[in-house]
Amino acid sequence: MCGIVGFVGKSEASPILIEGLSKLEYRGYDSAGIAVMENEDLKVIKCKGRLANLQNKLNECPIKGEIGIGHTRWATHGEPSDVNSHPHSNGKGTVSVVHNGIIENYLYLREKLMSKGYEFLSDTDTEVIPNLVDYYYDGDLLEAVMKAVSKMEGSYAIVVISTKEPDKLIAVRKDSPLIVGVGKEEYFIASDIPAVLNHTRDVYLLEDKEFVVLTREGIELFTEDREKINKEIYHVTWNADAAEKGGYEDFMLKEIHEQPKAIRDTMTSRITLNNPVVLDKINMEESYAKNIEKIYIVACGTAYHAGVIGKYAIEKLSRTTVEVDIASEFRYRNPIINDKTLVIVISQSGETADTLAVLRESKRKGCRVIAVTNVVGSSVSREADDVLYTWAGPEIAVASTKAYVTQLIAMYIIAIHLAELKGSTKTEELEEIKKEMLKLPEKAEEVLKHKEALQKFASKTYMHRDMFFLGRGLDYAVAMEGSLKLKEISYIHSEAYAGGELKHGPIALIENGTVVISLLTQRELQDKMVSNIREVVTRGAKVMAITSEDNKNMEKIADSVIYIPKTLDILSPVLSVIPLQLIAYYMAKQKGCDVDKPRNLAKSVTVE
Ligand code: F6R
Repeated sequence: MCGIVGFVGKSEASPILIEGLSKLEYRGYDSAGIAVMENEDLKVIKCKGRLANLQNKLNECPIKGEIGIGHTRWATHGEPSDVNSHPHSNGKGTVSVVHNGIIENYLYLREKLMSKGYEFLSDTDTEVIPNLVDYYYDGDLLEAVMKAVSKMEGSYAIVVISTKEPDKLIAVRKDSPLIVGVGKEEYFIASDIPAVLNHTRDVYLLEDKEFVVLTREGIELFTEDREKINKEIYHVTWNADAAEKGGYEDFMLKEIHEQPKAIRDTMTSRITLNNPVVLDKINMEESYAKNIEKIYIVACGTAYHAGVIGKYAIEKLSRTTVEVDIASEFRYRNPIINDKTLVIVISQSGETADTLAVLRESKRKGCRVIAVTNVVGSSVSREADDVLYTWAGPEIAVASTKAYVTQLIAMYIIAIHLAELKGSTKTEELEEIKKEMLKLPEKAEEVLKHKEALQKFASKTYMHRDMFFLGRGLDYAVAMEGSLKLKEISYIHSEAYAGGELKHGPIALIENGTVVISLLTQRELQDKMVSNIREVVTRGAKVMAITSEDNKNMEKIADSVIYIPKTLDILSPVLSVIPLQLIAYYMAKQKGCDVDKPRNLAKSVTVE
């Protein structure tokens, strides 16, 4: 959600900070600001709105200096406003801070500081930090930051700059990501890698409570006990272009088109024919797999929808009971879990607060936790017992697309792995699934060819205020994802229903002209779904059907049909979701919506 960038070097800091922040715009924000050291004087410019507003202010009033910090804020404490924007400073203007996360005990700290004469201007929790640092400063900035941090409860990634020691930046994190970029005589700090990629590919991934001091001379890392840390550099292999639009109109469209590659990459070196699946970071013994009593898959939003498919796949292949739950529900219902429960958390960002809380609570109760995530070095990847990375590459658009399909691949891989360990499904059947999985990238390319038909459908239907998605079995799980995608980027209200539920209420809403998008890819459930479609057609609904290419009958019943290549029923979600993503995309474009940054949403939800 919020974005952080810091720079120390021999170039002008302001343009580097603005450029870095622009690479983090995808995280969602409502205000932005920078603080730059100009001749040992701390200059702060910040304002509500987009980065362009900040740039205009800077044009009117440029700041010259080679060390500074910047921030894009997504409001939590206090409404979006100039005064609530970061950086925040102490009253004397000697310390400025940018912060991601929430300081839970800020009211207490604020009162304490006020009783000592400190004054506060904003409604934010962040403002206590520069004042605390000022309060503790006694000739050693690192010491002051360490003391301030020791008083703070909650989650944070912070970067501090001060006129007291104007040649350095000091940063630390807890439960909120922070990376250090290592350039040539220039150093960066950021909440996410794309912010530094135009300058360097060598980064340090900071762990919780690691302090870093950045100066022109280099970087020093310390534990909270001020012991020096030696850390390995992580070399980023994807280039800056991977985080840019690459010729597409929007990141979302680019990411939809990257799905064949993302699917292939996620299977690479893991799925090969006539071999068990290879899982680099999962070390599960056969005896452990055989003793699992229950599996929970827990996640939020789109990742949760991937989990629903995971339930079908894992139960079918490994014959283990699987429950799927929403992280924000699971964490507060005292679930019955123990060392015989395997918990799988799915999170694209690896930083979602509720998912992370589930991971921690599950571990506390003795469960083994597998994390499925797209971000190397993310919090869930570090804290889980095992990790399965989805190799989708950076996902910039707020609406998840390529991360979702790779999460599905991860679910199949885990299902096959468990089945192989337990011997619960015949080898020939597993081999057949692997063979078909390896064909999915090509088949996904085929589905993308329906773009124009889907665009036409969108141009005819985008004025509707409500739509329905129908499916049974795995198709129902995909319908839920299609409905979420449509809502979040086009702001068209939609609901997904299991076909069998129609008669139990929702059919009352069907009237002349109601748009129903139905999925029919599950052979055993096809006839039942056809009956459901007839029920809505009789009541005047306009039906688009998404079905397998061998099901030509649908043309007689539905108003329009999109065919996906034949595959195994269990794998069809990877293909059938693509038309739904494109429908949502084109509807949103028709309505003139900002598809990459839908209103009220943020890419990474690091607070509850
Ligand atoms: C929807 C979407 C969200 C995320 C959810 C979880 O398109 O992207 O619903 O899936 O916020 O995020 P992660 O996967 O980062 O934990």
